[in-house]
Amino acid sequence: MITIFPTLFEPFSSESIVGIAQEREKVRIRAHNLRDWATDRHRTVDDAPYGGGAGMLMKPEPLVAAIEAVAGAKGAEREGRRGRVILLSPQGRRFDQKMAEELSRVPELTLVCGRYEGVDQRVIDLAVDEEISIGDYVLCGGEVAAMVLIEALTRLVPGVLGNPASLESESFQGATLEGPQYTRPAEYRGRVVPEVLRSGNHAAVEKWRVEQALELTKARRPDLLEDERRNIPPASSPEGEKNGKVEP
Ligand SMILES: C[S@@+](CC[C@H](N)C(=O)[O-])C[C@H]1O[C@@H](n2cnc3c(N)ncnc32)[C@H](O)[C@@H]1O
Repeated sequence: MITIFPTLFEPFSSESIVGIAQEREKVRIRAHNLRDWATDRHRTVDDAPYGGGAGMLMKPEPLVAAIEAVAGAKGAEREGRRGRVILLSPQGRRFDQKMAEELSRVPELTLVCGRYEGVDQRVIDLAVDEEISIGDYVLCGGEVAAMVLIEALTRLVPGVLGNPASLESESFQGATLEGPQYTRPAEYRGRVVPEVLRSGNHAAVEKWRVEQALELTKARRPDLLEDERRNIPPASSPEGEKNGKVEP
């Protein structure tokens, strides 16, 4: 990451799954202080926007210098390293599980955390490969958004989760949300764990889980089922059978 608040990442990257992943050397997380690339004695990284308007913008010189020092220059050399520079931004492509899967396979990511009113456009043009948003709302800075990416990606890295099977049934892994889950006790405040989950009948448990996941998805996120339906070729379509995909 490149950030003006590198210490925010210290507890985050040393605890829980991300901390364990670092200890096991499955991932390596480094927070670089943007101010290290500032050239004046006040270590200035922002300035007023041309054309007026509220707030300040991140200046291009220290930010591009920082990105190039950490990730290499945009273009051929960076492609050689197979790294990618991502600016966290409300204007970016909206982050989802598919993107997490794709990004978890990129060997080196440099996450750039914006602050103030955002960054000078030339930083994006000259040094950023992709802008990613974590949702349709505005945060004060890109640090929390970067943490969202780091956590979502880290848990997909092989060998990070103790039981990789836990990934398979999760929400967004397929087209459905994960249905309700229960642990002990079997009865709590008058609410009893469904009989089927205590039956020991694995086929019945699996069937129940699939049905519950489907019901929940229909009720809360019918759009996910619609997206999935668009991607499944109708059995009778030779085109669909050929390509494995049909146009919506
Ligand atoms: C206050 S925001 C700037 C908002 C900007 N003026 C706009 O209207 O789009 C400061 C920084 O927070 C980060 N940020 C805010 N919301 C975000 C989101 N939804 N996803 C990713 N990053 C976000 C970005 O790095 C952004 O440069």
